[in-house]
Amino acid sequence: MPLLSQQPYKARDFKVSGIDGISDRTIQMHLGLYQGYVKNTNAVTQRLEQFLREGWTAAPDHPEYAALTRQLGFEYGGMVLHEYYFGNLKPNGGTLDPNSRLGQTIQQSFGNIDTWMKDFRAISAMRGVGWAIMYQDPMTGLLSNHWIDLHQNGVPSGFKPILVLDAWEHAFLLDYPPADRPKYIDAFLRNVDWSAVESRLTSEKAIRPTGEQW
Ligand SMILES: [Fe+2]
Repeated sequence: MPLLSQQPYKARDFKVSGIDGISDRTIQMHLGLYQGYVKNTNAVTQRLEQFLREGWTAAPDHPEYAALTRQLGFEYGGMVLHEYYFGNLKPNGGTLDPNSRLGQTIQQSFGNIDTWMKDFRAISAMRGVGWAIMYQDPMTGLLSNHWIDLHQNGVPSGFKPILVLDAWEHAFLLDYPPADRPKYIDAFLRNVDWSAVESRLTSEKAIRPTGEQW
């Protein structure tokens, strides 16, 4: 791990409000949770750096060193995924244009947008807490939907998050009971900033035929 404590991670300032179906109260509470991930990421990083300075890496089985190293993946993953989530929310974000680069890439990947949407909705509604994420494979340029547990579990290595939905209950519990998660998913999809999502796509030049090796 790099030495980061001299440049602690700073929480980003998201101006998200007026989301139809996700209250400002929920957003403010949720931003507070995000700031907690930033705080914990910095705290874990500083403690791990202390180990390095004291030469404790010579004892990798030290329980605290091992536990904190594992925890860093959880805290850092939670921090970054929340930034993607708030970064792809915008009041009345518009509709996904099938002729846009994003729309075309989804159709290239799933055959049509309806199929992609059904899959993304189904993943978002899965039991348990986690994230529904549409990723792009930088090797092929193609998109795929995934369920991520606990921020760091299930992440397809090297894939880039393109559209991120927080399906933890804290994301909607002030507005809907747990059984009404589909209403939250509907609200999320009504307020996606599609231009922000599209800007996350890798450059077209990077798209390669499936299976081609580097
Ligand atoms: Fe969250």
